[in-house]
Amino acid sequence: MTAPNNISMEELVSLCKRRGFIFPASEIYGGLNGFWDYGPLGTELKNNIRDAWWHDMVRCPPMGPDGEPVSIVGLDSSIIQNPRVWEASGHVGGFNDPMVDCRETKSRYRADHLLCLGVKGDDQAQIYAFVENDDESLASARKRLEKYIKRKLDDEELDVCPFTSLSTDRIAATVGPGVKTAGTLTEPRQFNLMFKTFVGALQDEESAAYLRPETAQGIFLNFNNVVDTMRVKVPFGIAQVGKAFRNEVTPRNFIFRSREFEQMEIEWFCHEDDAARWFDFWCDTRRQWWESMGLTSDKVQMRRHDADELAHYAKEGCGTFDVEYRFPFTSPDYGELEGVAHRGNFDLTRHQEFSKKKLEYFDQQRNERYAPHVIEPSAGLSRGTLAILCEAFTPDEERASKVFMKFQPRVAPIKAAVFPLVNKDGMPEVAAKLHQDLRRRWPVQFDAKQSIGKRYARMDEAGCPWCFTVDSDSLNDQSVTIRDRDTLSQDRIGIDKVEGWLAERLT
Ligand code: GAP
Repeated sequence: MTAPNNISMEELVSLCKRRGFIFPASEIYGGLNGFWDYGPLGTELKNNIRDAWWHDMVRCPPMGPDGEPVSIVGLDSSIIQNPRVWEASGHVGGFNDPMVDCRETKSRYRADHLLCLGVKGDDQAQIYAFVENDDESLASARKRLEKYIKRKLDDEELDVCPFTSLSTDRIAATVGPGVKTAGTLTEPRQFNLMFKTFVGALQDEESAAYLRPETAQGIFLNFNNVVDTMRVKVPFGIAQVGKAFRNEVTPRNFIFRSREFEQMEIEWFCHEDDAARWFDFWCDTRRQWWESMGLTSDKVQMRRHDADELAHYAKEGCGTFDVEYRFPFTSPDYGELEGVAHRGNFDLTRHQEFSKKKLEYFDQQRNERYAPHVIEPSAGLSRGTLAILCEAFTPDEERASKVFMKFQPRVAPIKAAVFPLVNKDGMPEVAAKLHQDLRRRWPVQFDAKQSIGKRYARMDEAGCPWCFTVDSDSLNDQSVTIRDRDTLSQDRIGIDKVEGWLAERLT
């Protein structure tokens, strides 16, 4: 798995574990597929991305296309809601993925993630299923196909087709991933992705409830509450960041597709006539935001959903755009980072219907009562964290660490480090004082262990932009060196200037 900038996911995952960004959940019990824990640096990084989004979208959003300031308010709704919510939203009936089971290995695959490898022009031969974007699975399918036809195959002789295009007869002639004989894969079957639980002491259907599969519904449920309490006027938005849960059949690619993840969602309420203009605005705004967070523009693209990909709520004719990023494991293709959907007034009218409560807005200017239309920029915080980790990962053979994390200072989990060059001659005391002063304002680390080279290497892997070192000259001239993570340049600065110097770059 090699990315355009030669980063390997294995090396990134290993760095994330080694430096305390991300650990497998319940690791001491062998882990749990699809669940991850964020370590000390990962938590800071993710919180910084979340805070940047909240600042840039909720507190200080860009001006709207009408030249008026955009108005967005925040919300933090429950993860578990009345189960009727998910009937109204369409998730009980429609939040399904077609799944394929292997009767032999008991593995379950998303049908649209399976591809089949065969020999061009030979419709009778066995074909071999493999998992999309999984080089190992593809290599194994090819090896078994070559064994079956008893010769090596050139690339041009190979034929790849989606599993979803197969007839029942061809499914019977398909050999599943990691299996030797054909016919162990089932036809695709629907499978609901919501996690079910029970509320209260009794565990029966009456007490069944669901962990939310998206944060969005909590926003629609509180539409009246926000309108009644906040003096908001259409157009306006409600934003929410929080956990969502999906019982994904094939969680994979590190935190890209997990079963517990975080979303940053905005529901933008507007009049139907203005929806197209706001849709364009949000597509542009959200793409630009990801680029402002350091994702290079050649790795970011907007892609319109094909008709067969549209979610049940997407408004006919308007569709959905994804902001996509070229992740190492999708390269040269792209993977979804955020969806911007025109949901029409599907959600408000469905909740009206199911709850029998009016969810409408009286527009004084138009003298009209209506259920507003909704544009929804729905971003993955976990996926965004992964994209930023991938982007920051910079191999550099010249450095002791061989790699450094080139985070923007805004998202860097540690903003600066303070070191005494050696642990004597008064240097630790001066460094400790500087550290105490700086940590009041930012996450700043003090490190006096091991050689200075090893300490720089540690900070390079943590993505810390600047290191301040107290050396023997510091005691005479009251100055320290600043080492820049990216250029490796070393300058001197007065100790009393350090805080202002950092503030200029971090505020
Ligand atoms: N409310 C709309 C909605 O939830 P979605 O496209 O299903 O739309 C929005 O999800 C974003 O949530 C995705 O673009 C992705 O970044 C993130 N996401 C969805 N499923 C995920 C998963 N299993 N693991 C990590 N992130 C996920």
